[in-house]
Amino acid sequence: MIATSEITTTREIAGANLLNLLVVDDDRAIREGCRDTAHIAGFNTFIADSAEHAGKILEQQAIDIILLDLRLPGVNGLDALKTIKSRRPNAVVIVMTGFATVPSAVQAMKFGAFDYISKPFTLDELRVMLERAIEELRITTEKRVLRERLRSKNGFGSIVGRSPEMEKLYRIIAKAAQSTHPVLITGESGTGKELVARSIHYSGPCHDKPFIPVDCGSLVPSLIESELFGYARGAVTGAIRSKEGLLAIAQGGTVFLDEVSELPIDLQAKLLRAIQEKEIRPVGGTKRLPINVRILAATNRDLEEAVAEGTFRRDLYFRLNVLTLKIPPLRDRKQDIPLLAEHFLDRMARTSGVSRTMSEEALRALEQYDWPGNVRELENSVDRACALSSGPTIQTGDLPSPIQNIHHRIPAEASSGPRIIPLCDMEKQLILRTIDQLKGDKLLAARLLGIGKTTLYRKLKEYAGED
Ligand SMILES: Nc1ncnc2c1ncn2[C@@H]1O[C@H](COP(=O)(O)OP(=O)(O)OP(=O)(O)O)[C@@H](O)[C@H]1O
Ligand SMILES: [Mg+2]
Repeated sequence: MIATSEITTTREIAGANLLNLLVVDDDRAIREGCRDTAHIAGFNTFIADSAEHAGKILEQQAIDIILLDLRLPGVNGLDALKTIKSRRPNAVVIVMTGFATVPSAVQAMKFGAFDYISKPFTLDELRVMLERAIEELRITTEKRVLRERLRSKNGFGSIVGRSPEMEKLYRIIAKAAQSTHPVLITGESGTGKELVARSIHYSGPCHDKPFIPVDCGSLVPSLIESELFGYARGAVTGAIRSKEGLLAIAQGGTVFLDEVSELPIDLQAKLLRAIQEKEIRPVGGTKRLPINVRILAATNRDLEEAVAEGTFRRDLYFRLNVLTLKIPPLRDRKQDIPLLAEHFLDRMARTSGVSRTMSEEALRALEQYDWPGNVRELENSVDRACALSSGPTIQTGDLPSPIQNIHHRIPAEASSGPRIIPLCDMEKQLILRTIDQLKGDKLLAARLLGIGKTTLYRKLKEYAGED
């Protein structure tokens, strides 16, 4: 018999969320001995005296761990194992073998058994084996969660896009996530630099540690310094207490230096020293504090140019640029536009209950536009169109005017000579643009356009029907 104190660890691990364990053995004494031990250890236990019986239980219960006798009456133990693994591929199977069947135990591991335990075994040995099985379950679950987070149906976690350019980016993100080197993320405004930085952090081993973004462009220099490095008591006017800097708060995690090109030159030197020496000195303090953080930086400026102009330190540039991740502008990966539009429509439906689809024509307009504001502009356009559209389908007229205009320029014959627009199209554009400018206030729009509100609603209904 085992003492209760010895089983607490297993119980603690298994007990919080009862794991289901199945014992399959035709020997009643073993079946019941295992069941009792597992039960005391905090498992929900099931027993079966044959492969057939085990099959029935597996159909009905979400079994996590299986103790399987390799010598069952009427069936080949290995076949039984294969059936179990095909039915529950994620279950951890421990095979129980007699002395004579060790070779088949080895064979069993090739077929996916986690380990084997030779009969006769003590209950202590069984307990240790169960603890290892729980650990295995924990690791595989963790891996699965991580994999799922990394690979969603449309892209890399929350990053949407299936274009070759994005696929290439996902491979670099996955690699960057596993390293601790600094990464410089470059790309035009709105391409998703912050999103990428978050993905690197949250898909890496330190995902449960802080991710702290610092906008180097939005703070006055003296504030950035105290934000990053903290200050000692009395160092700053009114500083009654000392304040921890973000580099210290992020301990073990990531600091994301957004718009890093905006960092004042004297702070660049201080930052470089902090990265190199892995320690910081709070403003006004004398004590140095060790830091252990990963640095990710982003910029929409050409840092090399900034270096050439003398506004960015070359040594810091090299330090940050160990790995570069260049996010292509949206106009260079237009095939992602429908997927992104759908993603934003889905999100709108989930968060505000407004469910809309995009008309073919509107989608074509989105694909033809060049998106100087990149994904952020697309996101805003879709959100606004959702709010503007009066029917369930978003029409071209619901889109912001620059996008509509691109679409109207398409007919080739209109490209030479003055462009003629039918009066009804002009009216439609004018009405929709006015509502857009008035942030959706249709009553005010009708008043300003000098038409009755019923006329306006009738026209909107007509436009909605023009799918
Ligand atoms: N590939 C993508 N999939 C889904 N959403 C995206 C994608 N790229 C960008 N976004 C969304 O677009 C918006 C802008 O992204 P983000 O803030 O990461 O861009 P940025 O490059 O940091 O922009 P800025 O230079 O203006 O700071 C965010 O709401 C983000 O969620
Ligand atoms: Mg940003």
